[in-house]
Amino acid sequence: MNILRSTCFSLLLGLGSLTVQAQSTTGKQTKFTPGERWYDQNGALINAHGGGLLYQNETYYWFGEKRGQSASEGINVYSSKDLYNWKAEGMALAKSTDPQSEIAVGGLMERPKVIYNPKTKQYVMWFHLELPGQGYKAARAGVAVSDKVTGPYRYVNSFRPNGHMSRDMTLFVDDDGSAYHIYSARENYDLRITKLTDDYLSASQADTLLFSKHQEAPALFKKDGQYYMITSGCTGWAPNQASMHVAQSLFGPWKPVGDPMQGPLADKTFGGQSTYIQPVQGKKDAFIFIADKWNPKDLKDSRYLWLPITFENNQPVVKWVNSWNLNQWNN
Ligand code: GAL
Repeated sequence: MNILRSTCFSLLLGLGSLTVQAQSTTGKQTKFTPGERWYDQNGALINAHGGGLLYQNETYYWFGEKRGQSASEGINVYSSKDLYNWKAEGMALAKSTDPQSEIAVGGLMERPKVIYNPKTKQYVMWFHLELPGQGYKAARAGVAVSDKVTGPYRYVNSFRPNGHMSRDMTLFVDDDGSAYHIYSARENYDLRITKLTDDYLSASQADTLLFSKHQEAPALFKKDGQYYMITSGCTGWAPNQASMHVAQSLFGPWKPVGDPMQGPLADKTFGGQSTYIQPVQGKKDAFIFIADKWNPKDLKDSRYLWLPITFENNQPVVKWVNSWNLNQWNN
């Protein structure tokens, strides 16, 4: 965590720790209740923060950071047919018991994203890796692979893409199967993109600066040939205002189009921070904005904000709703 992060973190801690009503039901769920406790099918709190989804074999898989009170404990994976009810599939990538390993206890694995490579028939996970005992200094991208979607994933290596620091990140697979790593570089002042190699295991040299605006937590989607990216500012676990950019090409230029959030606490992303945008299968122009409402006092109890993206004058908007379901796209 850099100095700016820590300072803003203490200033904004009050907002970040807003409490919400706990949800006691562990039965079959038929709606999303953003910010409330979300339990898996065994009745345990879902522990998958900074996460991303993958749709494969008519199933959604949710990969996310397994957190203790503050510790980074590896990467969990859950599966679901309907996006409401999630089955714990265990750890996709555990911490190594070898103290020499780059993924040994004491380091950080954040914001995991998994994509499937049809050429190699491998599932490829990228995440933000920090080396044991070094805080946020290493700023590397970590890569792990598996033949099976739920893992266990085999850790491959970590690196700074083309020499650039790499902290908050996401992956995006375009319609032609090309995959991209979008990442915060240069102490988070730059947002960059790199095209992955054909096997998705490395960064190619196609690597470009998108903008220098001190942004992180990138989440992307594509609609009608346009790319949209939602990012957050850099205030550690504390919430801040989201920004959206739009582009005709992933390599830019990316045009700023303001903050798409609407409703109470919209100027603080409803108390959350972007992590992913998931298209809903079988529905046209249906995208779910996914954010983390971090609880720095107890990270494992950080909440999830899943909200529908709607379009007004063809511009994406994320409106706060206490409760909603996928029928909103039955048109
Ligand atoms: C946030 C970042 C999180 C985590 C946190 C630590 O800015 O988005 O993934 O790294 O800082 O303070």
